[in-house]
Amino acid sequence: MLVSAKEMLNKAREGKYAVGQFNINNLEWTKAILLTAEELKSPVILGVSEGAGKYMTGFKTVAAMVKAMVEELNITVPVALHLDHGSYEGSLKCIEAGFSSIMFDGSHYPIAENVEKTTELVKLCGEKGISLEAEVGSIGGEEDGVVGLGECADPNECKAVADLGIDMLAAGIGNIHGKYPANWPGLRFDVLESIKEKVGDMPLVLHGGTGIPAEMIQKAISLGVAKINVNTECQLSFADATRKYIEAGKDLEGKGFDPRKLLAPGTEAIKATVKEKMELFGSVGKA
Ligand code: 13P
Repeated sequence: MLVSAKEMLNKAREGKYAVGQFNINNLEWTKAILLTAEELKSPVILGVSEGAGKYMTGFKTVAAMVKAMVEELNITVPVALHLDHGSYEGSLKCIEAGFSSIMFDGSHYPIAENVEKTTELVKLCGEKGISLEAEVGSIGGEEDGVVGLGECADPNECKAVADLGIDMLAAGIGNIHGKYPANWPGLRFDVLESIKEKVGDMPLVLHGGTGIPAEMIQKAISLGVAKINVNTECQLSFADATRKYIEAGKDLEGKGFDPRKLLAPGTEAIKATVKEKMELFGSVGKA
């Protein structure tokens, strides 16, 4: 069974750790993340971008696959299936498809429109017990072809959106998706502190979890971050392990071309990345 992310994130905020959101792209990734969460007794959030949803033929396919996999693998830890950076229409589709958590990314709208659309989704998600994440202040870098400028969120706007009845808030604090450039000045903890002062106990979400130094992650958690999103790092470890397998000429002429063998090293690499992140975020044993 899938659960809303609300309870696991409130527990994480109180316990001063964070739950990882790991993005999925196919069956192998999903299986690797679920098995690692179960092995480490950690709650977990599976993130699905609109692009990944399309790639997997639609949100209904994704929801059916994840629900069946949780059952067939006997997963006992809390698992939330979460739309990542959803449009308004995408959010409606995921509510319909059976997702247990939604992120509506209205950060590119003027604040009044972001508030209006978020308010509608608070109502719809509330009726179904689905958790809702909203975003204020766009996160930099590229996500599915959309390039965010990465401005810092205005703490007053964060309060306005948090007060709408959402369950978690993603606020830009200098974080960006993908690899951080060498001259990245780091997270703006001053902005995070002002946001926390305004929004109180609301669990905060840190996007762009790839490549943020461990000390910064820990400080962010101490300031109210309870959910951290990781995508690029799993992609990089998967690609690197697959490339090494192919370069090593692993019996590709024989049985090595079997997709189950070809994808195995990448899948194991994702498991290792997820384990490392869960240990860093402090969610191990918290299920
Ligand atoms: P990274 O790709 O930088 O890990 O960010 C993931 C993310 O924030 C998804 O919303």
